[in-house]
Amino acid sequence: MLYSEVVMDHFMNPRNVGTIDDADAVGEVGNAKCGDIMRIYLKINNDVIEDVKFETFGCGSAIASSSMATEMIKGKPLSDALSLTNKAVTEALDGLPTHKIHCSVLAEGAIKAAVKDYYDKNGVKYDTKIFKDIDHEHNH
Ligand code: FES
Repeated sequence: MLYSEVVMDHFMNPRNVGTIDDADAVGEVGNAKCGDIMRIYLKINNDVIEDVKFETFGCGSAIASSSMATEMIKGKPLSDALSLTNKAVTEALDGLPTHKIHCSVLAEGAIKAAVKDYYDKNGVKYDTKIFKDIDHEHNH
């Protein structure tokens, strides 16, 4: 089968879909490869992600990746969200077909963009290098 059971489960019953009205941060990235868009909303308290929701116009793999990625950062400190990689997300999904890996990058990028948004809004100093990739994606 092309997709793992975990992918199918997260695709059919995605976790954390929607928006957060009073979100502390929002991150959006577009995918240069397919033109799809992903938006992540974060509710943050004391540097901990209390709630997270996502909206995507992406494909099934993007939905499954975002569902898994949001589950992996919920209740965790922002630093964990920053270190979450699309590799870790794909592994948690028991793999994705190679031509669908770029879809999981969308989730990672949107989460990082949301953390950057939070840092920017709250005047937190950071090394711009950590957000290099998403800025790059955003401009294309
Ligand atoms: Fe665009 Fe998967 S094909 S996110």
